[in-house]
Amino acid sequence: MTDLDDRPAEPDLPEPYLEIDPYEKNWMRVSIVLLVAFAAAITVAGFAAGFQLPGPESRVDPRTLLDTEPWKTPGVFEVAEGEYEAYVVAQAWSFSPLEIVVPVGADVTIYVTSSDLQHGFKITDTNINMMVLPGQVSKLEYTFDEVGEFPYLCTEYCGQGHAAMYGRVTVLSQADYDARTADTEATDASGSEG
Ligand code: CUA
Repeated sequence: MTDLDDRPAEPDLPEPYLEIDPYEKNWMRVSIVLLVAFAAAITVAGFAAGFQLPGPESRVDPRTLLDTEPWKTPGVFEVAEGEYEAYVVAQAWSFSPLEIVVPVGADVTIYVTSSDLQHGFKITDTNINMMVLPGQVSKLEYTFDEVGEFPYLCTEYCGQGHAAMYGRVTVLSQADYDARTADTEATDASGSEG
């Protein structure tokens, strides 16, 4: 019955249809806020809190690891005034060395590798926490500013003895450290160079 010419003209679209839906706009705002928050979190963690990613420092052959320096004689060595390098071998189910002794304030670069399977290396109360893979040397640096004991442990399940895989960093006052070093040197004097 309706005559085609009687149809109402196309309505002009009201303003809101030409804009972004307010609901969608809000979600866009939320996304931007989240991106800014994440960027801020990464910046704070990396620069202010000192979070670091363990770098794969180098490659080693796990089959000959224990016959190769410095892994043959793992331990901690002073490389400059207040700067130390610690070499740690993880193997089922222990760490070598079992103890790392440094004076307070020591800046320690820790190199860890495994001679058998995958292990973890975490030092409690520090930001040192890395995966230890056979064939790869992982490296992180930490400054021990407080006297005390910082146990380190394996954080990757590696079998029956996993729970027994731990050691510790002992941070001594400069006086205690000097006394301990003197004792060790006195004991070693007969065997090696002074
Ligand atoms: Cu080694 Cu768990």
